Amino acid sequence: MTLSRRTLLRASGGLAIALPLVSTGCSLSDRSTTTGKSLESAINLPAKYERALPIPKKLRPVRSDDTTDYFEIVQRAEQQEIVPGTTTSVWGYDGTFPGPTIESRSGRRTVVRHRNELPVPTVVHLHGARTSPEHDGYPIDLVLPAGGGGHGGHSHMAGGDISEGQRTYVYPMRQRASTLWYHDHRMDFTGPAVWRGLAGFHIVRDDEEEALGLPSGDREVPLMICDRAFESDGSFKYPARDDSLMGDPGVEEEYLDGVLGDVMLVNGAPWPVFEVAATTYRFRILNASNARRLELGLDPAPDDGFIQIGSDGGLLGSPVTHDSIPIAQAERFDVVIDFSGYDLGDEITMTNDAGDDDMAEVMRFRVVRKAPKPEPIPDTLADLRAYEELKEADAEVTRKFDFDQDGERDGMDMWTINGKLFDVDRIDAKPARDSVEIWELSSDPAHPIHLHQVPFKVLSRNKNDDEPLATDAGWKDTIDLKEGETARILVKFDSYPGKYVLHCHNLEHEDMAMMANFEIV
Ligand code: C2O
Ligand code: CU
Ligand code: CU
Repeated sequence: MTLSRRTLLRASGGLAIALPLVSTGCSLSDRSTTTGKSLESAINLPAKYERALPIPKKLRPVRSDDTTDYFEIVQRAEQQEIVPGTTTSVWGYDGTFPGPTIESRSGRRTVVRHRNELPVPTVVHLHGARTSPEHDGYPIDLVLPAGGGGHGGHSHMAGGDISEGQRTYVYPMRQRASTLWYHDHRMDFTGPAVWRGLAGFHIVRDDEEEALGLPSGDREVPLMICDRAFESDGSFKYPARDDSLMGDPGVEEEYLDGVLGDVMLVNGAPWPVFEVAATTYRFRILNASNARRLELGLDPAPDDGFIQIGSDGGLLGSPVTHDSIPIAQAERFDVVIDFSGYDLGDEITMTNDAGDDDMAEVMRFRVVRKAPKPEPIPDTLADLRAYEELKEADAEVTRKFDFDQDGERDGMDMWTINGKLFDVDRIDAKPARDSVEIWELSSDPAHPIHLHQVPFKVLSRNKNDDEPLATDAGWKDTIDLKEGETARILVKFDSYPGKYVLHCHNLEHEDMAMMANFEIV
């Protein structure tokens, strides 16, 4: 693993200024390096490719009417066998990790009532959703435990819109078909809560997409990839400063850069195997790790590699093929893999070129059935005119956001945006509704940056000769910045007015203040 400049500076102590950075070579900063420190599990690591890939269950609406589908979820602790032979207490939506998959129809309202039976307050955020601020899961809009229990945390949490025991979130779903995910978002404690299991898929469908004849049913598979570590009793290991998650926020100082695990999970199973027919499959890939970046590959690779059909914000205009896909925390890639060129019995490993040893492997596909020749993927997937026509010249304002480590809280280093710690009362940008702005994001070390509410278009990256990457195509809501990189994004604020957050999606950075407010006015 390469060291970030920040780590080098810290390691070199007082000699920071004199450190000859050039000697490390420029390749350091051109790789999307994982920012974080790995935990070591206290159990024997589970064997690879023995467990079948679990598919999260689909949540049925409790009722539907002309305009709306209503869902209910209970957040609770439950024992789950993640590592064979041991049980882990997960905090799950409906007691499962990943949570159940919710499906919405574009244009139909989705209402989800969450009841909190966990011992701590929670907040639900639907990542990628367009909804009004009171339903976006603002970090201090707490849902207090149904069984009673305090607010937890610090005084800077005051002022939120507090609910007792349960809260109903409303999503108008006036947005394109896309792969969203819901996860906990409580102020200062998102990292440990997601680590314990509070994450699930939420898929939006529409007619445009269904007309394409993409692989569906058993051949449309969500893949939630994340790393974890385990204690000797099977529980999740996490270096929280306070294990109750009600007192001091954040992690032990040596994990300030982020928490990595040594077990790779897909849909909650370690290094699983998925049996496929020799045909095409659609995979909705999400990196739900706290701090781990992935660079996915296939070995042996099919002719077309990954055929990317969608990004964070839904289908691309036409497919783009990649040999490997860098996927940072919270990003989604919607891909088709064509297994028709393999023989029965072939095994294809999904690799992670950003990881070492065990973490260099993710899961395996095993070809077990013949299948008729697959339908080709259409050359035109979606009408992306709104995306293509969005031009730099439309922007009236340029704003700069610098992601760095320039502050302190309670004597501990903290992550900052423009040198400032998150403050719920400070608005850092007030874009006008429907206006277009260029946001210039710069980063040290690497940070995956996420904007709530408004999808964006990547305009340029200085580490790629000012061009976007091939994997930046389509609407994005999260962009991974390499160390020392400046990227420019074009954002159209055509959404509900109000206050939303932008933040780093390295969850330890987020919990340690790397968040800011913008208000659409
Ligand atoms: Cu996926 Cu503000 O988060
Ligand atoms: Cu979000
Ligand atoms: Cu960060």
